[in-house]
Amino acid sequence: MTLSRRDFIGQAAAIGASLAWVGTARASRVKWTERRDLYPEGVASGDPDHNSVILWTRRPFASGERQVLTVEVAEDEAFRRVVAHAPAAVSAASDWTTRVLVGRLKPARTYWYRFTDPEGNGSRVGRTITAPAPNDARPVNFAFGSCQDINEGKLNAYRRMIFEDERAAPAEQLGFILHLGDFIYEVVQYPEEVKTRYDRTIYEVARLPAEPDSFKVSNFHVPLTVDGYRAIYKGYLHDPDLQDARARWPFVCMWDNHEFSWQGRQSIVQAGGDPQPGQTVKVAANQAWFEFIPARVAAPSGSLEQFGPPAVKNVKIETWDGNGLGLEPNNLAAIRSLIAYRALRYGKHLDLIITDQHSFRGDDPTDAEGVGKIYDPSFNGMFSEEAMIALDAGRAYEGGRPPDELHFRDVRIANPRKDRPPRTILGAEQKAWFKSKLRKSTATWKIWGNSLGALDQRVDPQNLPAEMVEKPWPADTYAMLGSNDYGAAYAERKEIYDLVRDARITGFAIVSGDRHSFWAGYAAATLPPRKFEPVGLSFVGGSLVSPGAMEAYEHGFKKKRTMRPIYLVDRPGASRPDWTYNMLLRHGVRSCLEYAKSFDLQRARALSNPQLSPHLEFVDMGGHGYAKVRLTGEEMRTEFVCIPRPITRSDRPDGGPLRYRVVHTARLWAPGDRPRLKQQVIEGDPGLAV
Ligand SMILES: [Fe+2]
Repeated sequence: MTLSRRDFIGQAAAIGASLAWVGTARASRVKWTERRDLYPEGVASGDPDHNSVILWTRRPFASGERQVLTVEVAEDEAFRRVVAHAPAAVSAASDWTTRVLVGRLKPARTYWYRFTDPEGNGSRVGRTITAPAPNDARPVNFAFGSCQDINEGKLNAYRRMIFEDERAAPAEQLGFILHLGDFIYEVVQYPEEVKTRYDRTIYEVARLPAEPDSFKVSNFHVPLTVDGYRAIYKGYLHDPDLQDARARWPFVCMWDNHEFSWQGRQSIVQAGGDPQPGQTVKVAANQAWFEFIPARVAAPSGSLEQFGPPAVKNVKIETWDGNGLGLEPNNLAAIRSLIAYRALRYGKHLDLIITDQHSFRGDDPTDAEGVGKIYDPSFNGMFSEEAMIALDAGRAYEGGRPPDELHFRDVRIANPRKDRPPRTILGAEQKAWFKSKLRKSTATWKIWGNSLGALDQRVDPQNLPAEMVEKPWPADTYAMLGSNDYGAAYAERKEIYDLVRDARITGFAIVSGDRHSFWAGYAAATLPPRKFEPVGLSFVGGSLVSPGAMEAYEHGFKKKRTMRPIYLVDRPGASRPDWTYNMLLRHGVRSCLEYAKSFDLQRARALSNPQLSPHLEFVDMGGHGYAKVRLTGEEMRTEFVCIPRPITRSDRPDGGPLRYRVVHTARLWAPGDRPRLKQQVIEGDPGLAV
């Protein structure tokens, strides 16, 4: 398909970008002198398709309201073959950022671009890559990552990604980076107020406007205005490794929670304290995301230059629909001010369908009345899986036969969600869009880019020996951890997986983030003793920076607690504990306890509980890094590149050593068959993760 100029102008206008149109190549006639200091956040590109891509920069001016830069796109790094040359306006109203959609590019091609101001002061040169044409069967390579809290660490992962990509054969080089959220953390610590957390040094990131434009909860400063969010994006983009990565590849981004609010949802702000109405805050977060992340999204203004925030007020939401969508008009205006869910076709082999997990989500079923009474805190966050399945399903439980009561041991509560529809993370409208995209996809691989993990976090405390617990866990019942993501959104997940099964869709895979840990396994609606029926693959990538559960446990899990061996064991003579938590999730408590006694992996694995986690092949709760995906007509190969805890910036050109590199490969399966992963440790030692 070739876009006409008119189609293209429509497309550019729809996403609020100014326009550059490719013509005949000729040498640059722009007087450009590189002045990186005048473009302190670098350059970026985003959302490539087979004939266009969005280019981005920020050029602040000390005075005035508006200036016009020139953007050039060339086929060569020296700009001897410039194919597009266009004005790019920057203005104070968009914090001096600009977005330009460049059209009529050739598919699967590398281009270089740069911006120049009226005085000839130039940005650094960026590199970008268009998607292959939709019928082009060449392999697709991309990386996915998430959770880059540079307040608490450094981005050695990008340095490693760049180092390897520069040395890779052209056919193996990454086409784009899929960023699955927590690009920023809106909760900002100041180094003079707090020096360390866990193993981390607190680094300067940004200063937020004073109260009431921000608030503080424990050590965290939290923004409430667009200036606060902007300050954080700028602080993040001053990181040299992130800036180099954005200058090397197009990024395809979706927010997770921290681009708006830590525990918030829809337009509700919640960060460590009580929820508060935050319609103006959601709009501010959306505006800053639009300004700093180049993406094919439509701003409310319809303007080519600026977001145009709708006027909203912070009003408590009093009425909700059955899906937990707040019907308060300011809430609806705020969450609809930027629709970021979208799909991207990339060659013959990839339809990437990206969803938003926070703007439309209903309430968490474990917040319902009385649920605290069936939770035993001595089990360290474990919750009855049966109770969770019932809470999540609401009135739809077992084909419309919800129990009147939920129980744990001898405690019974009235089922608080008996009359409610099943919990939704996507919300009705987005879910309908997602299902339709999935059904219509014609690419070999249908990849759901989803910020939240979808693999069950299941454990078997029923197998703990009596002497380890105050009161035993009920026999024959499993426990689950984490109610917040698709690992426990059983009903919604099943709706999607059933569609995949019933429509006989193959090549379905989920890539996700948020959990600050690496997971590989299968998309399956239920686990034994219910039917185990994998319909696709499911992966979670480790955090690029942010601390994970093992780091927290190493610091916070008391040595004298009897439950400690199922999370951490102290091997004699070792400097750090072994992470039995990985084994707990993959093999169960009996394996952990054997390992804690003998440190014999074989004996420990021989006690694996085969009913616990047939959906998992790999779990590393302490891993950091990113994942690389390679797609062909025959297989999906997912490589976990795991780095040590990124506490300080590595001065090595490769970004520092690796902990391990583990590959999971699945051959494309026939409709009706189940997928199977083959695991290969390429280098290093994944410890208890396998
Ligand atoms: Fe995160």
